[in-house]
Amino acid sequence: MAEKKLFIEDKMLKMFAGKVGTPFHLYDERGIEENAKNFLDAFSWSEGFVNYFAVKALPNVNIVRLLSSLGFGADCSSLPELKTALKAGLPPEKIMYTSNDTPDEEFREVLETGAILNLDDMTHIEDILRLNDGKFPEVISFRYNPGPGRTGNVIIGNPVEAKYGVTYEQLFDCYRIAKEKGARKFMLHTMVASNELEEDYIVETARMLFSLVGEIKEKCGVRISQVDLGGGIGIPYRPEEDGIDFFHLSSRIKELYVQMIEEKGLPPLRISFECGRAITGPYGILVSKVRHVARKYKTFVGLDASMADLMRPALYGAYHHIAILGKEDMECSEVYDVTGSLCENNDKFAIDRRLPPVEKGDIVVIFDTGAHGHSMGFNYNAKLRSAEYLYKGDGSFVKIRRKETYEDYIATELDVPEEVAIL
Ligand SMILES: Cc1ncc(COP(=O)(O)O)c(C=O)c1O
Repeated sequence: MAEKKLFIEDKMLKMFAGKVGTPFHLYDERGIEENAKNFLDAFSWSEGFVNYFAVKALPNVNIVRLLSSLGFGADCSSLPELKTALKAGLPPEKIMYTSNDTPDEEFREVLETGAILNLDDMTHIEDILRLNDGKFPEVISFRYNPGPGRTGNVIIGNPVEAKYGVTYEQLFDCYRIAKEKGARKFMLHTMVASNELEEDYIVETARMLFSLVGEIKEKCGVRISQVDLGGGIGIPYRPEEDGIDFFHLSSRIKELYVQMIEEKGLPPLRISFECGRAITGPYGILVSKVRHVARKYKTFVGLDASMADLMRPALYGAYHHIAILGKEDMECSEVYDVTGSLCENNDKFAIDRRLPPVEKGDIVVIFDTGAHGHSMGFNYNAKLRSAEYLYKGDGSFVKIRRKETYEDYIATELDVPEEVAIL
């Protein structure tokens, strides 16, 4: 079985785990920095290129601050995410707010802060006009859903089934209304892929958006000044998979840009993404300890982490590579289900996984938890959220989120009014 390489020496990780206690998520600062810089470098041909880091992937203010210091913006889908982006020091013009069944109070706050609004539906137009004195903000973006025009994939689903974005027919009305109601700068957004490792799919997304830019100009007289290709660039969760080469992807998008924008005489366009997974995903691990090896009809390796720390395997059967610290060179001679301790039988990190012989007390590393890992955590069975640490290299670590305590957990149940009178 091919192995994945850890960003920290086994011995050091073992010592650290012994000191702070498991489970915890650990992120590699140098890896994130280098990767983020690479992404920006790859698209440096594109004037003003930006990646609005999808805060939902790793909503830790310290990580958003790190990325912001490198030139990233932030993509937010809720008020707390927006507040995190602002707390990280990002200026509103580098924050994209992608609405999704958004309540008035969130729209109000976004309008007040001046973050870029990316509207998801025609009904949101009424909301904005009602909340903003009948006017649109100066800058506006719409999320486009191509419906049967694209296929989607298993994580994001088929666009026709997706609740997100406006249809092809609606798109033109959106821009007409926005222009009539005072918007002056127009952006076009889409998000049709998730964890996509096929470069072609992302290139086709660029083609779809570049083509719409011309159509929108023709049909509505609106100049789109920025296209946002969304997130969704995949990462190689399996050791045998290859990741997307940012530079190769970028060169193909550039080729299309030249053909479809420059050579058609259309005004220059800013290009943006809002990738989360491809930026931090490979640079995080969940570190856990074996509590029991239970032999029943199958053999179960019971960890002190659970799906409350990493839900992807249970949610969509996602593969996360697993290594037993110090046993990487041993033969994977055993077959295990690797489980957590929730009262749910799908609380499994792996099913029928070949691993070296596992013993109580072994340290288990679950790879690629740097995006949609801790952030998807929850409190079922009153499980307390684990801590997050940043590895700065050379044996130095920083705690960037403490472990949740029982007092944190119970706080929302204490000091609340006992009765709510409605009459
Ligand atoms: C609107 C939007 N943008 C960006 C992302 C980030 O996706 P990824 O982390 O796969 O790049 C998501 C993920 O769900 C999303 O819904």
